[in-house]
Amino acid sequence: MKDVYILGIETSCDETSVSIVKNGNEEIATTVLTQMDTHAKYGGVVPEIASRMHTENITMVLEDALKKANMKVSDVDAIAVTYAPGLLGSLLVGVEFAKVLSFVYDKPLIATHHIAGHIYANNLVKKLEFPLLALVVSGGHTELVMMEDDYKFKILGTTKDDAIGESFDKVARVLGLPYPGGPNVEKYAAEGEHTYNLPKPMDNNELDFSFSGLKSAVINTCHNEEQRGNEVRKYDLARSFQEVAFDQVIRKTKLAISKYNAKRVIVAGGVSASAFLRKEVEKLCNDMNVDLTIPPMRYCTDNATMIACAAYPQYLKKDFADLSLCAKSQEYFFKEEISSKVDE
Ligand code: KG4
Ligand code: ZN
Repeated sequence: MKDVYILGIETSCDETSVSIVKNGNEEIATTVLTQMDTHAKYGGVVPEIASRMHTENITMVLEDALKKANMKVSDVDAIAVTYAPGLLGSLLVGVEFAKVLSFVYDKPLIATHHIAGHIYANNLVKKLEFPLLALVVSGGHTELVMMEDDYKFKILGTTKDDAIGESFDKVARVLGLPYPGGPNVEKYAAEGEHTYNLPKPMDNNELDFSFSGLKSAVINTCHNEEQRGNEVRKYDLARSFQEVAFDQVIRKTKLAISKYNAKRVIVAGGVSASAFLRKEVEKLCNDMNVDLTIPPMRYCTDNATMIACAAYPQYLKKDFADLSLCAKSQEYFFKEEISSKVDE
């Protein structure tokens, strides 16, 4: 079969990225321009600034990726873009840019879901084999997903309130740590000890998650310490929060492996950049004799490589979009999956 080159575009949050990937698993070249330093000044992503910066930078990012790949747009077989979910103004820049490229160069357009991107980033390590259990942990998602085949997602469990990454970001704010929250909580946690008593969320036989009670407990702990005139032991509190949050993730993953007799686990999403989580999942999968894949760190945070990977099965199915494609801030997962959430 002829090789397929897909040009991926990702602008859903604060990274402008373009990548060219061969056959869904071989990275040819990628450029990621992060706006992190700019948003750090404001303590979080400012949507208006994010979309303006994507607009200013996207052409340069495309040119850089093409130069590294030694290719032209006319050499690729399709243009794939993250159409959902994310910041609407940011997504729009990528979607409109992709539509122009598709029209001008007469290439098929592929609308790719951001979370599918995180999942398919694992293809860069090892081709996905089904069935598999995907642990999705990001700023907007916390799910255990069973995949019987390409693009067949069945949600086994999801969060009842906050996403895990969101809770890390909020806890970082409460502890006065700079944006981005997750990595900074992890840095503090590495220096501390688990000495704060925090509630164990979802201590039951369900596969759903909850993080808002834990987050509130961290906020209350800070207030209580302050009221007593004590200094908050930030390193310890970060450590206790991290341990309790990931203990829940590990417990639920273990439960899902047992309930569904899973033989393969993959991890996806920005939170999988946590060294602590990576170690804990490795330990779990080792103990349970389950095959584990986690993308290398640079593919855990947002990038266009994962989008071009996830677009490959769509290309094979000729699942193409047309120029009426719209960005969607909140396309939760794929519509079918919401209805197919497995009842416990
Ligand atoms: O996947 P991602 O880049 O954006 C979304 O698609 O949501 O994930 C970003 C999330 C943020 O909430 C960030 O705080 C979290 O991932 N994160 C971490 C770590 N690195 C990133 N959370 C905990 N520990 C980390 N080391
Ligand atoms: Zn992401």
